[in-house]
Amino acid sequence: MSASRSSYSASLNFFGNTTPARLVGQFGSPLYVYNERILRERCRDMKALCGVPGFTVCYSTKANGNPHLLRMVREEGLTADAMSPGELALLKRAGFLRKDINYVCNNVSPDELKLAAAEADHVSVDSLSQLDTFGRVNPGGQVMVRLNPGIGAGHHAKVVTAGKDTKFGVNPEDFDAMRAILSRHNLTLAGFNQHIGSLFLDPEPYLAAMAWLLETAKAFPGVRILDFGGGFGIPYHKYDGQQRLDLAVFRSGFTQLLERFRAETGYSGRFVIEPGRYIPCESGILLGSVYAVKNNGPTRYVGTDLGFSVLARPMMYDAFHDVEIYPGNDTIRHEMVQNIVGNICETGDVLAKNRVLPEIMEGDTLGILDAGAYGQAMSSNYNQRLRPAEVLIREDNNVRLIRRRDTLEDLLAVYPE
Ligand code: LLP
Repeated sequence: MSASRSSYSASLNFFGNTTPARLVGQFGSPLYVYNERILRERCRDMKALCGVPGFTVCYSTKANGNPHLLRMVREEGLTADAMSPGELALLKRAGFLRKDINYVCNNVSPDELKLAAAEADHVSVDSLSQLDTFGRVNPGGQVMVRLNPGIGAGHHAKVVTAGKDTKFGVNPEDFDAMRAILSRHNLTLAGFNQHIGSLFLDPEPYLAAMAWLLETAKAFPGVRILDFGGGFGIPYHKYDGQQRLDLAVFRSGFTQLLERFRAETGYSGRFVIEPGRYIPCESGILLGSVYAVKNNGPTRYVGTDLGFSVLARPMMYDAFHDVEIYPGNDTIRHEMVQNIVGNICETGDVLAKNRVLPEIMEGDTLGILDAGAYGQAMSSNYNQRLRPAEVLIREDNNVRLIRRRDTLEDLLAVYPE
């Protein structure tokens, strides 16, 4: 049996002229690798979702804020949302202008709201108390309000962001109080936004929440921005042939809703979607190295440098990422059940549990698929490990370092002597 498991990345020519082993040899391990062509394709998928005037794709920076990737997202004609001063700074570094940045935040300080109003086209607040604070620091300004449509969806309870079990959004029963605060501070309500949750592969809940927002907006004829949020899923089970989100079905439901709304209301403002994951996720593969293998009773553990400080999603949400194997030797391998674990001192440091894979051996390189979103962005220095480097495979197959690995000096720099 073949030792390698790499048909998915091979079918895309993901690594271009180089190989995972060469990349790790050159830039170290672990290593986030991105493919420019795939990133740009995903931007174009989203832009093609709708031809209705005013349709805008606003990339949600939280999924991956590397300014080199952000620059390509900008070149593809997307706008962006930020939710922290750090994200604002990265967007500016990538060349985004104020008019192309939306600030969608929650529970932030008056100073941050002031900064956001100065540096972003629009700021969205998600509670009456934040609306009041916004009004105090930006009287007479424009503001958006995040609504809770009561419909949530997502791959895990921790990423469902609407409905009764979430901190997000203003409920319709608070609209009178909202109007009173707007008028007290002489604020203009520029628009509404919502976000029902992260990772749907069935368009229905998103379309239902859109219909709700459009209906709600009819009572606010002055609004010019209707932002339906992100959540567009990608198939993580690549080797099981999991179906993609059907963008054609989505496109027709989406377009119908917007056209009907325009015909009924004469609306000529913006319709916004806010995809995060969909844009960079499949353009990223996380490479790591196998340093140890062992059995504990019947369970085989494959020990790697891919701890949850590098990729937090499996630990945090029991998230599934497919694994490729780039073997370090020619030994014939048999399939067996294996647990792939990292180098963090916690039992929960499991990247892949009970996977049937060709025997993984010391010296192999592993590729963790679909690591481009919420991968590096959620990495940490836990156990005082150094966050990994990131490289980009350009469309012309040149490889470029786009983030250097942390250094020990970086770790020490924050502590006064
Ligand atoms: N807009 C707002 C207001 C959001 O809160 C989010 C994500 C997005 C857009 C983009 O959602 P996306 O298209 O990426 O689903 N760390 C989790 C995902 C958390 C998403 C948080 N909010 C994960 O790794 O699955």
